[in-house]
Amino acid sequence: MENLLSMEHLSNTEIKTLIQRASEIKNGQYEPQQYDKQFVANLFFENSTRTKSSFLVAEQKLGLKLIDFETSTSSVQKGESLYDTCKTLEMVGADVLVIRHSQNAYYDELASLNIPIINGGDGSGQHPTQSLLDLMTINEEFGSFEGLNILICGDIKNSRVARSNYHSLKALGANVMFSSPDSWKDERLDAPYVDIDEVIDQVDIVMLLRVQHERHEQSESKQFEVNDYHEHFGLTLKRYEQLQDHAIVMHPAPVNRGVEIDASLVEASQSRIFEQMENGMYLRMAVIDYILQKKG
Ligand code: CP
Repeated sequence: MENLLSMEHLSNTEIKTLIQRASEIKNGQYEPQQYDKQFVANLFFENSTRTKSSFLVAEQKLGLKLIDFETSTSSVQKGESLYDTCKTLEMVGADVLVIRHSQNAYYDELASLNIPIINGGDGSGQHPTQSLLDLMTINEEFGSFEGLNILICGDIKNSRVARSNYHSLKALGANVMFSSPDSWKDERLDAPYVDIDEVIDQVDIVMLLRVQHERHEQSESKQFEVNDYHEHFGLTLKRYEQLQDHAIVMHPAPVNRGVEIDASLVEASQSRIFEQMENGMYLRMAVIDYILQKKG
């Protein structure tokens, strides 16, 4: 693995190595080397709290030097292309780039660069480090993936988290189901669509997705009714009470409280939403360490 672009590019062995390594860092069983002669740039063309801040902490724990890059004060504002921006950072000495961009598969146009790229999310395409931190969280809880029943609820069509997790969870042997309003179904993904109320008492994991308002057509946004959505597709108090004792609740966040999940359930005992965020920092340390070791 020279880059981390999509979960579809990772083998099961690579996935297991990365999540195992992240857990070892978290538990103090593995201490990554310090990369104090190497430089990283974080290019966030879309907003972020979790991904950006956890990459920043991970990079500083690994001793990397940060290139001060903000899209709002860079020559992106003068119309510089993504390719020219990234090529420039390569030429000034960056050793790795972390990129979030609204364009699906933006990385295709960067294929000729000689610098590793870690995808921090591309449009409605993929969010591989989110998927890996989700897998790390699931592995901590269940110890394996084979045969787990996982319900992913919400805005499937517009969610890079749904797409990344669909691919990786299926590859690892989990049973993935979706629940979604008709207009947010993605028929390209081969998982059954179910009624949340028919399966909520049987699932091991219920994974809620953020409603991706920024990717909706105006007509879709107009149709969206918060109460209606919460009632039909959200984790209500009643549904939470029907979960099996061992089942867990996940959400990549940011959470629209009272929409995807009742506000009082975000930190309920079976919720792992904040553990996912904590794991994200260790997972991103493991990914950067792995890629920089490969680069040599
Ligand atoms: N889950 C996630 O990607 O959150 P941010 O958008 O805050 O990075």
